[in-house]
Amino acid sequence: MATTTKKAPETIATQQHGNRIVTLDEFIIRSEKDFEYATGELTGLLRDIGVAAKIINREVNKAGLVNIIGVADSGDNASGDKQQKLDVYANEKLIECLQNSGECCAIASEENDDIIQVSPVNSKKSNYIVLFDPLDGSSNIDVNVSVGTIFAIYRRRSDAAGPATKEDFLQPGTKQVAAGYVLYGTSTILVYTTGHGVNGFTLDPSIGEFCLSHRNLRIPENGQFYAVNQGYYSKFDLEMRRYIDNCSDQNYGLRYIGSMVSDIHRILIQGGIFLYPSTRKYPKGKLRLLYECNPLAMVVEQAGGKSLTTQLKRILDMEPRELHQRCTIAIGSPAMVDELKAFVERYSALPL
Ligand code: AHG
Ligand code: MN
Ligand code: MN
Repeated sequence: MATTTKKAPETIATQQHGNRIVTLDEFIIRSEKDFEYATGELTGLLRDIGVAAKIINREVNKAGLVNIIGVADSGDNASGDKQQKLDVYANEKLIECLQNSGECCAIASEENDDIIQVSPVNSKKSNYIVLFDPLDGSSNIDVNVSVGTIFAIYRRRSDAAGPATKEDFLQPGTKQVAAGYVLYGTSTILVYTTGHGVNGFTLDPSIGEFCLSHRNLRIPENGQFYAVNQGYYSKFDLEMRRYIDNCSDQNYGLRYIGSMVSDIHRILIQGGIFLYPSTRKYPKGKLRLLYECNPLAMVVEQAGGKSLTTQLKRILDMEPRELHQRCTIAIGSPAMVDELKAFVERYSALPL
């Protein structure tokens, strides 16, 4: 009788790299040598964020089964947006993971009014601070559409002997030492950069590990899609309306998910442009400079893309004045951002 050998089940990791799985933890540790004065703190921080992402992923995946969808009792967050139950949960988990290890000295979150000090663990003083949008696109949860987490890591400016200060958080995006996002989509992927290119790690649920799946991601020079909330068209300035008309004239497809992480991830892989300009409701733009625009701008620039305000200032050069500052944004494939810039220069009434 013929015998059949049972094949080991194929996982995401083995499909991508033969039998060689490169986990996020291994990759982070191996990359430590990229940093001249590596102390292991940054490695620890990225690992903490990876752990929090797995916990959040577990909850997001069963959101319809347990009583965790819908609006939270806590009301509005610091930006005046409705807090969802999962916003609160994701925020708590990230804070907990970072506090337990003590690898950072303070935290700022889109969901908290003020900065949170982290007590040293085993008397170890950390030089890093972390900022995050714990759940991006949270209005998508109740309808089973992708959401994400965005994070940014900086070195503190104040003396490590004292508590971290708000000024430690008000640094331009060029000072980020690492930034990234987690997309809880059809699969869950963590994408990050430490200023040496961009890499993506897909969560393999069969082994519970993020595994290297997108090495050295490069954004396409051009794209066929634009992402903007076109429902606000009549509230946009003339130059934005002209650019959007041009997108339509050129037969670009419109894709808008309502979760910036999801839109940016698609653009990173396929090319395209994402716009959130001024509207009458949000004259300075809706998205938050520190929690959303800066980290995603660092990732996109590291992948070869561009990111400007719709007043044409490089996002990463913006000098933040407050924690929850909003800004306008045009981000994506370099040729498309250049094209948008030409429209703003041509049609804008603003002195540039
Ligand atoms: P958050 O859920 O963290 O508040 O972010 C939602 C943001 C962003 O992810 C998305 O691109 C944008 O808000 C959508 O805004 P509109 O509904 O105004 O288009
Ligand atoms: Mn957000
Ligand atoms: Mn959010």
